[in-house]
Amino acid sequence: MAETVPEVLLGVAGGIAAYKSAELLRRLTESGHAVRVVPTEAALEFVGAATFEALSGRPVATGVFSDAHEVPHVALGRRADLVVVAPATADLMARLAHGRSDDLLTAALLTARCPVLLAPAMHTEMWEHPATRDNVALLRARGTVVLEPASGRLTGADTGKGRLPDPAEIFDVARLLLERPDALPLDLAGRHVVVSAGGTRENLDPVRYLGNRSSGRQGWALARVAAQRGARVTLVAGHTADLTVPAGVDLVPAGTAAAMEAAVRGAATDADVVVMAAAVADFRPVATAADKIKRGSAEPEPLRLEQNPDILAGLVHDPPRPGQVVVGFAAETGDSEGGVLHHGRAKLARKGCDLLVVNAVGDGKAFGTLDNAGWLLARDGGEEELPMGSKALLASRIWDAVTPRLP
Ligand code: CTP
Repeated sequence: MAETVPEVLLGVAGGIAAYKSAELLRRLTESGHAVRVVPTEAALEFVGAATFEALSGRPVATGVFSDAHEVPHVALGRRADLVVVAPATADLMARLAHGRSDDLLTAALLTARCPVLLAPAMHTEMWEHPATRDNVALLRARGTVVLEPASGRLTGADTGKGRLPDPAEIFDVARLLLERPDALPLDLAGRHVVVSAGGTRENLDPVRYLGNRSSGRQGWALARVAAQRGARVTLVAGHTADLTVPAGVDLVPAGTAAAMEAAVRGAATDADVVVMAAAVADFRPVATAADKIKRGSAEPEPLRLEQNPDILAGLVHDPPRPGQVVVGFAAETGDSEGGVLHHGRAKLARKGCDLLVVNAVGDGKAFGTLDNAGWLLARDGGEEELPMGSKALLASRIWDAVTPRLP
C-alpha cells in the first residue's frame, strides 16, 4: 500500500522573520511532507515567491482570485493535514481571531479543520499589547496551538520577547501535531513543572571528566510539550547536544550531579511535578585534581570513585513539596537476569517514584536519536507500552499519565 504523504499548508505572514520560513519549509519537505506555501502580500515584501516555489516545488498565490475556478481556499483548507503559520504577525492573529478572510491565507485558515500551529514573531510591545494578549487567548481557547515567542535580539538593536521560535522547534511541534493532533491540550495551565535533562560530567581535572552519551533531547521534548500544554517550566540542564532552549522555558544549567541535585531540589519547592530525565553519573572521582594530570612515567594511579547522591530517590523519600508527582527514567539494556521490562519493574520498586519511563538502550537506541519507544510503569501497577515515535510524542504520553495524578 502506498504511504500517504502528509499535506502541510505553510502560511507566511509579513514580518522580517519571514526569511526563516524558508528553513522550516526545507525541513518539512526533506522529511517527506508535501508543502503548499501561502504567503500574505506583505510576506512577499520580505521573501520572493520564487524562493517558496523553488523550495516547495509548487506554485504560490496570495489572493483568492488567482485560479478562482478551483476555489483554492476551500481546496487548500480541506486538503491540509496541518496548517503552520510562521511567522504569525500580530495582524495575522488579529484577523484569524476575528474570522476575517481577506486573503488566501486567512480564507484557507477558516476552511481548515486540521490542527493549526502559529509561530508568532513581533516586537515585544506588540506581543504584550492587550489586543494581542486577548487574540492569543481566544485562539488558544479554540484549540489553535500558539507557540510562545523566543526572547533575544529583535529587528534593530533592541532585545526582548518576540523572536520567531527556532525553525527546528517549530518543526518538532509540527511533527508532533501530525503524529497526534490532540497532543497539546492546555491541561498543565497554572502548574509548575521541573524537568532535568542531559548528562552530568564529573570532573577528574580541569580538562577531563567522566560523562555519558545523553543528548538531552527527551528532556527537551518534555519541557517543550509541558510549556505548550500551559505549564511554567524549569529545565535543569546538564550537558547536551547543541540544542536551543525551548521558547517560554526557564533554563538552569547544572553540570555535575551535585549541582543538579541542588538545582532540582531548589526549583522543586513549589513544583507540582518533577521529571528526572537526566542521565546522572552514579559515581564521581573522590578528588578533582586542581591541575591537569600529567602522563608521567610511572604506572597510572587507579581512579578512586565515590557515590553521587541519588536525586530521584531523595525526591521520593524527602520531597521538597509533599504530594508532588515524581517521574523517573530508566535506560536499560537487558542482560542474563532478564529483559528491559524486568529491570524496569525492579527499578520502579527500588526507586518508589510515581511513574517510571523505561527505554531500551544500546545498538543506537534512545541516546542521541530523534525517536524513542519504551514502557510507562506506574507505582499503582499500571503499565503502558509507548510505541516508537518522536520524543515529543513520547513526552505527550508521559504528560497524559502525569495530569490525572497531579496534587
Ligand atoms: N538518577 C538520579 N540520581 C542518580 C542516578 C540516577 O536521580 N545519581 C535518576 C535518573 O535521572 C533516572 C533514574 O534515576 O530518572 C534512573 O537512573 P539509572 O541510572 O537508570 O538508575 P540507577 O539507580 O543508577 O540504576 P542502575 O543500577 O541501572 O545504574
